[in-house]
Amino acid sequence: MTQPLPFIDLQAQYRRLKPLIDERVMRVLEHGRFIMGPEVEELEDALGRFCDARHVVSVASGTEALRLPLMAEDIGPGDAVFMPGFTFTATAEVPVSLGAEPVFVEIDPTTYNIDLPALADAVAAVRREGRLRPRAVVVVDLFGLPADYAALGRLCEREGLLLLADAAQSFGARLGNRRVGTLAPVTATSFFPAKPLGAYGDGGAIFTDDAAKAAIYRSIRVHGAGADRYDIVRIGTNARLDTIQAAILIVKLDAFPAELAAREHIAQTYDARLPAAVKRPPRTPNTVSAWAQYVIEVEHRDAVQTALGRAGIPTAIYYPKPLHLQTAYARYGHGVGSLPVSEALCERVLALPMHADLDDATIDRICGALANALAA
Ligand SMILES: Cc1ncc(COP(=O)(O)O)c(C=O)c1O
Repeated sequence: MTQPLPFIDLQAQYRRLKPLIDERVMRVLEHGRFIMGPEVEELEDALGRFCDARHVVSVASGTEALRLPLMAEDIGPGDAVFMPGFTFTATAEVPVSLGAEPVFVEIDPTTYNIDLPALADAVAAVRREGRLRPRAVVVVDLFGLPADYAALGRLCEREGLLLLADAAQSFGARLGNRRVGTLAPVTATSFFPAKPLGAYGDGGAIFTDDAAKAAIYRSIRVHGAGADRYDIVRIGTNARLDTIQAAILIVKLDAFPAELAAREHIAQTYDARLPAAVKRPPRTPNTVSAWAQYVIEVEHRDAVQTALGRAGIPTAIYYPKPLHLQTAYARYGHGVGSLPVSEALCERVLALPMHADLDDATIDRICGALANALAA
């Protein structure tokens, strides 16, 4: 039996970057400023230069990166927050944790991102019903592909809604000549280890060009501190990024442009070599995905996944169930059949191995195993 492959090969990346990462981590161990040490600001500056965002606030996770902007707007009970139904739980969990209600919106089958006409209809329906105040739209760049921010921006401006980009999967992606981080008024990303830019633990960041908003996020990040840490001017939380994680991310950010190019090459190689019966991931004009995941659609997905597993090819299903059908969120949704595109997609999606160290020979092995699985 051939060796099973890793789904995401973080060890290969570590071997490549080891001397630099070890040196940076050792430096933190030596200076000992583990909380808000100098690497945190150094990373924020480097992230801002990378994506051209004026203000970057690093935080403890992608989930906190979503929470702080909603806390800053006082979003809570009686408020509606719109989002796609086909996403990770954190997108919805955050507004719910603040007392607001998620409104699950259908996705566009050609991009897997939020469907604009469905979003406009959902906002109008909430206004008509009058029970909740529409406050924000959390847009998810699913699998790394940026959403249509120009159109979303117009809709949110017209409706007076905060547009918050959940770019947990898309940091590094480009729309035209702009990078994720500047496409929406506020962008949240995650540095979970498996993300395109991943730490060795939890981490995240918020990007905005608005200095006043950034100052509020910085305050909420450290318990709502004002002029000093014992001057408490608002209800905050502890959402700081560890200095050690910042040090690791500084090294990984240097390597990130080359890794993004490698991910694009890998995606193109999959596109070219996969069996014809396989539906390739969406692409949109003038857009470069960050390829957090390379997700195909296949018939008989579960049988294909089992056969690939037997051939040593790990795969993953993002997501087996849309949020409106999850036990915890069922009360906010309208049951089976209410988001048919999302529901159908959950039966067909299959994520193949994707990481910057995947070579062409391994892609051939994966494509060959998939051809065998489909033929069986
Ligand atoms: C779409 C989406 N939003 C939010 C998150 C939350 O990020 P974190 O795990 O860093 O809290 C994730 C991470 O898995 C995600 O995929």
